Amino acid sequence: MHVLVTGGAGYVGSATATYFLNAGHQVTIYDSLVKGHVGAIPPGASFIKGDIGDAGALDILFQSNDFDAVAHFAAFIEAGESMQLPGKYFHNNVVNTHNLLAAMHRHDVNKLIFSSTAGIYASKNTPIEENDPVGPASVYGESKLMIERMLYWYHQVAGLNYAALRYFNACGAMLAADGVPVRGEDHDPETHLIPLTLQVPLGQRDAIYIYGTDYQTHDGTCIRDYVHIEDLASAHVLALEALGAGRNRMIYNLGNGRGYSVREVIDVARDVTNIDFPATESERRPGDNDILIASSEQINQDLGWEPRFTDLKDIMATAWAWHTAYPQGYEDK
Ligand SMILES: NC(=O)c1ccc[n+]([C@@H]2O[C@H](COP(=O)([O-])OP(=O)(O)OC[C@H]3O[C@@H](n4cnc5c(N)ncnc54)[C@H](O)[C@@H]3O)[C@@H](O)[C@H]2O)c1
Repeated sequence: MHVLVTGGAGYVGSATATYFLNAGHQVTIYDSLVKGHVGAIPPGASFIKGDIGDAGALDILFQSNDFDAVAHFAAFIEAGESMQLPGKYFHNNVVNTHNLLAAMHRHDVNKLIFSSTAGIYASKNTPIEENDPVGPASVYGESKLMIERMLYWYHQVAGLNYAALRYFNACGAMLAADGVPVRGEDHDPETHLIPLTLQVPLGQRDAIYIYGTDYQTHDGTCIRDYVHIEDLASAHVLALEALGAGRNRMIYNLGNGRGYSVREVIDVARDVTNIDFPATESERRPGDNDILIASSEQINQDLGWEPRFTDLKDIMATAWAWHTAYPQGYEDK
C-alpha cells in the first residue's frame, strides 16, 4: 500500500515509517518540521514539507499521489504545556486533524491509523482495557479523545475505516541489525522520563527529579507502562494490513503490560549506564495517577500483536545506545 505518514519526521512516526518500508509498503512523509527532524526520515521514504493545517497543500498532496491509507502522527504532545496553552492543542490536534480528515474525504482515501494515547482514560483500573471509562486529565488528552469521537462519526456516516491506537509511554530507540542506533528520541523540550534520566549520566543535567514518593505503589513512586517504539511500529503494520484486508474499526491499547515505577526506571538506567547518578525527591505534580498499565489483550487476540521489548533493561539499552551516539539528538538542528 502507499501510506501517507503525517508527522513521520518525529519520534514514533519515523520508526513506524521504517517498519512500513521494511514490510514492503510505499511511504510518503508529510511533516512541517515544527518538531520533527530531517535526519529521522528513513531512506526510501518520499518527504514533503508541509502542514496539515494547510488545506490547499493537502489537496495538491492527495491529487498528486494515490494514497491507500494515512498514518496520522502529527500533533503537539506535551500534556503539561496543553494546560498552559489549550488553544495551541485544540488547534493543531483537533482543528488540523479535521482538516486532514476532510481532505481524505474529498479525495476518497478511507483508511486511517491514528496515534491516540493512554491520556484519554479516567480509569484507575489495572490493567486498563479499551472499554474502561474515558475522562482525560489534560487538554492534550481531551484533544485526542475529541479526535477519536470525530473518527467514530466519519466512520458512521462517511465510510472512514480506522484504527485508533492508544499508546502508553513510548520509549527506546531503533537499532540497525549491526546494533548501530538509527532512530531515537529527540523532543524539544524533553518531558519523558527515560531521556530525561539519561541526560544525567550524559552530564547534561545535575539530577533527575522524582515527583512524589507517597503514591499507592510498592515504592511510593508512580508506575507506568513503557512500550518500545519498534513494538508500536509493528502494531501499525498489523493495523495497516488489517485495514487493507477489510477491517473497518479498531481501537487498541498498546503497552507492554508490565509496569515500572519511577525509582525502578532510574535504577535500571544506573545499571545500564554503569553510572551511579543522583535522583532528587520532590513534591507530587498535579494530575499524575498512581499506576497506568495497559491491557493489550485485544490487539493480541485480534491481530496477534505481541511486544518484543518487555524487559526495561533491554529498552533502556537501546535508548542509551542512541543517546550516547547522538548526545545532542539529530544533527539537523
Ligand atoms: N511519545 C509518546 O510517548 C506518545 C504517547 C502517546 C501518544 N503519542 C502520540 O504519538 C504521535 C507521535 O508522537 P511523537 O512522540 O513521535 O511526537 P513528535 O513530536 O516526535 O512527532 C510529531 C511530529 O508531527 C509533526 N507535526 C506537528 N504538527 C504538525 C502539523 N500541523 N503539520 C505537519 N506536521 C506536524 C512534528 O514536526 C513532528 O515531526 C503524536 O500524535 C502523539 O500525540 C505519543
